[in-house]
Amino acid sequence: MKPIQVGLLGIGVVGSGTFNVLLRNQEEIKRRAGRGIEITMVADLNVTRARELVGPDVTVVNDARAVIANPDIDIVIELIGGYGIAKTLVLEAIAAGKHVVTANKALLAVHGTEIFAAASAKGVMVAFEAAVAGGIPIIKALREGLTANSIQWIAGIINGTTNFILSEMRDKGLDFAVALKQAQALGYAEADPTFDIEGVDAAHKATIMSAIAFGIPVQFDKAYVEGITKLGAADIKYAEQLGYRIKLLGITKRTPKGIELRVHPCLIPAKRLIANVEGAMNAVVVQGDAVGTTLYYGKGAGAEPTASAVIADLVDITRLHTADAAQRVPHLAFQPNAMSNLPVMPMGEVVTSYYLRLRVADETGVLAKVTGILAGAGISIDAVLQREADEIKTEATAGQPQVPQTDVIILTHDCLEADMNAAIGKMQALPTVLEPITRIRKEELA
Ligand code: HSE
Repeated sequence: MKPIQVGLLGIGVVGSGTFNVLLRNQEEIKRRAGRGIEITMVADLNVTRARELVGPDVTVVNDARAVIANPDIDIVIELIGGYGIAKTLVLEAIAAGKHVVTANKALLAVHGTEIFAAASAKGVMVAFEAAVAGGIPIIKALREGLTANSIQWIAGIINGTTNFILSEMRDKGLDFAVALKQAQALGYAEADPTFDIEGVDAAHKATIMSAIAFGIPVQFDKAYVEGITKLGAADIKYAEQLGYRIKLLGITKRTPKGIELRVHPCLIPAKRLIANVEGAMNAVVVQGDAVGTTLYYGKGAGAEPTASAVIADLVDITRLHTADAAQRVPHLAFQPNAMSNLPVMPMGEVVTSYYLRLRVADETGVLAKVTGILAGAGISIDAVLQREADEIKTEATAGQPQVPQTDVIILTHDCLEADMNAAIGKMQALPTVLEPITRIRKEELA
């Protein structure tokens, strides 16, 4: 049988990785897929560089629409990224009857409903293993391997850049900005690194996992998103002293009231496996009612790890494209006519526990006032740590009289986020609380 022909839109880091791995492992991939898979056409604005990468046997053009219009192309790989032209091209490829493979989490988290509906109507597949956690086959695991389970929750380190930054800050005492520059130099960061450090990239991925886990539409607009830019070295140190690590987690959870979908820094017990995932590595914990806890670990970015996921999708499509569309694995794991309307809950309704750090004037009765406010809000305290003033670098300018200060660190038991917000408001208003209160959510992941 003649090889399946693939057109590639965008040959950057992941595109060239895909081309190289497909070429290097072509014989084994053919033995698995039952048919050869060849990238025969590439579109990239930098035609000269693209030609150098793929050699003379592949057609190189600067117009992506020429790939979509080519009747010999069976599958289009979209590696352009973003919500703009990539969306137009994916929809045009679907309309032209092409199957699509994409690593574009932003596109699917925001426009997935429209794209999957268009694909279903046309009878083509849109495959996106590479969109979440790079080389880790987490989409396959959630959609197929765990299909017997009622998924209870997922918690993942799904952004390598921020995990790298947090690891460097903790291990080497590096400043945030220095660690970010290193992550960018190593090629982990998004084109716009604010997507990494503000939690947006992780929220795109959490949104996709949430949809597949619970059979709800992709709803990025309902995700709570908080990044790591406000984390200080002091919090990383205090968390360590309390037996926790701080990680940026993407969490989605089934509750009696609806679905939680949130990305924020999190204290997790240092003894959990996922707490020990360092550098740019990704890891996802999935809790299913039948299987219990499962953990998936690997590289979440980079040329060949992401290529591994892209090519797995090419193989799936090669095997399944002749199957009746109704017999294929549904895009979001559940049949399109059996999706759930469980609501994504507002953050105020989320129940979790907290780490609080208050820089206070070291005066009699301060702690009593703070704990009194928490007690008044019905919030139970789990642990309190106080750091002596001489351990604290004050930011007061030289020559100004300095109020003796201390850091009070409080761990709470579970409470409603809305109650915590109200309590923080009251504590912040105390004249003895000298700086904005740091609040980091805590998950035991038991
Ligand atoms: N910027 C992403 C990360 C790349 O740091 O994980 C993979 O999506």
